[in-house]
Amino acid sequence: MAQLASKGGTPVRTERFPFWPVWGDEEIENLTAVIKSGKWGCLHGTLSDEFERKFAAYQDAKYGILVNSGTTALKIALTAAGIGAGDQVIVPAYTFIASASSIIEAGAVPVFVDIDPHTFNIDVDHAAELLTSATRAIMPVHFAGRPADMDAVLALAKKHDLVVIEDAAQAWGSEWRGTGVGALGQAGTFSFQSSKNINAGEGGIIITNDDLVAKMARAHNNCGRSQEGQWYEHFYFGGNTRITELQSAVLLAQFGRYPEQMKIRQDNMNYLNQELAAIEGIKVLAEDARITSQSVHLFIFQYRKEFFAGKDKSLFIDAMRKEGIPTSPGYSIPLYKQPVFQKKAFGPRGRAVDLPIDYTAVVCPQTEKACFEEAVWFTQNVLLGTREDMDDIVEAIVKIKVHAEEL
Ligand SMILES: Cc1ncc(COP(=O)(O)O)c(C=O)c1O
Repeated sequence: MAQLASKGGTPVRTERFPFWPVWGDEEIENLTAVIKSGKWGCLHGTLSDEFERKFAAYQDAKYGILVNSGTTALKIALTAAGIGAGDQVIVPAYTFIASASSIIEAGAVPVFVDIDPHTFNIDVDHAAELLTSATRAIMPVHFAGRPADMDAVLALAKKHDLVVIEDAAQAWGSEWRGTGVGALGQAGTFSFQSSKNINAGEGGIIITNDDLVAKMARAHNNCGRSQEGQWYEHFYFGGNTRITELQSAVLLAQFGRYPEQMKIRQDNMNYLNQELAAIEGIKVLAEDARITSQSVHLFIFQYRKEFFAGKDKSLFIDAMRKEGIPTSPGYSIPLYKQPVFQKKAFGPRGRAVDLPIDYTAVVCPQTEKACFEEAVWFTQNVLLGTREDMDDIVEAIVKIKVHAEEL
C-alpha cells in the first residue's frame, strides 16, 4: 500500500500553517487616525518621518528615506551613491530580479556573480575575478535574511574603491558583527512588499550614514526638490516615488510586533537546522558566528537527490506539498538566463539595448545547481508556526526519504 500522500497515502498534516499577513487593532487604529486626520500624503503627516527615524535607528543608520518599493529603493540608492551610465555593478545571479533590474534602471550594467553554496550569498572570491576598469559598485544581497560575508565584501570594496549598496530587502533586523545590515555599505535598502516580514502591501526604504547619499536620495524621491528650496524649485533630477501615510500607519504597527515574530522564526530556524542536519541528503546552511541576528525571510536547505533514490527536486517538492507542508522550489532560472537579460531587452517595448556584456555567455555553476537541482525554501509564515508544526516538517521529509522509491 502506498505510504506517500502524493501516491494516495495519508498526509502528515492537513491543518494550515500560519496565515500572512498578521494584523491587529494597531493597524486599524493607526489607519483610522490617518484617514480622520485628512493628512494622507507623507509630505503632510508625521508617521512617515516617525517610521524613517525608528527604522534607521533600528538598523544602526543615521538616515532613512521611505519610498514606494524595494525596487525603487535600490535604483535610488545606486543613483544617490553616484552610480550611472557605463558603470559595472557586481550582483548575485541568485536573487530577485529587482537586484539586477534596478542597476539597469540606474543606467548601469549588472555583472553577475555566483553564490557560495554554503550560504546562498555572494561568492566574494568570484566577485574579485569579475573586476574590470569599469567596476564601480558591488551589491551584496542578504538573501533570505542571512547577512552576506560583509568582512569580505567591505575588504574587496576598500581595495578597489567600490561603492557598496546592500540589498537588504529580506533582512530587517539582521546584523553582521552587531551592526544592522544596510548600515555597513554606502547605503542599504529594504522592502515592505506584501510577502515581507514587515509589510504595508508595498513600500521600501533606503538607509544610509552618508549625508550626501541621504540628501540625493531624498531629492530623487521627491521630484528633485531640496529640503531648503521652494515647492516649485527643482535642483536635481527625480520623480515622485513617495510613500503614503496610510502605508506608514501600517508599517508602524507591523514594526511594533516585529521583534517578537523575529524571535519565533529564529527559534524555529535553529530547531529545523538542528533536526534537518541529521537527515542524510538534506544540507542546511553553514553556521557563522559573525551573524549576530538573522531575520529569516526564507528557510533554505539543499536537497541531494542521490540520497532520495535519485528523484528530482520537483518530485520532492510535490511530495512535500501533498504531505501538507507548503514548500517552494525557489528561483527556477538564474537571473542571467532570464529572457530579458539573454536578449538585453531593456529598451521600450522590449527593444534590445547595446550593452557591452553578453549574458548568453555567463555561467554561474552554483546558482544553476541551486535553481535546477538543490535549493528548497519555506516562506516566513511557515516559520511562524509552533514546535509541533516544525516537527511535522521534519516528519514529512523523513517519510519521503524512507519511501523515496515511490516518488
Ligand atoms: C532580494 C530582493 N531585492 C529587492 C526586492 C524588491 O522589493 P519590492 O518587491 O518591494 O520592489 C525584493 C522583493 O521581493 C527582494 O526579495
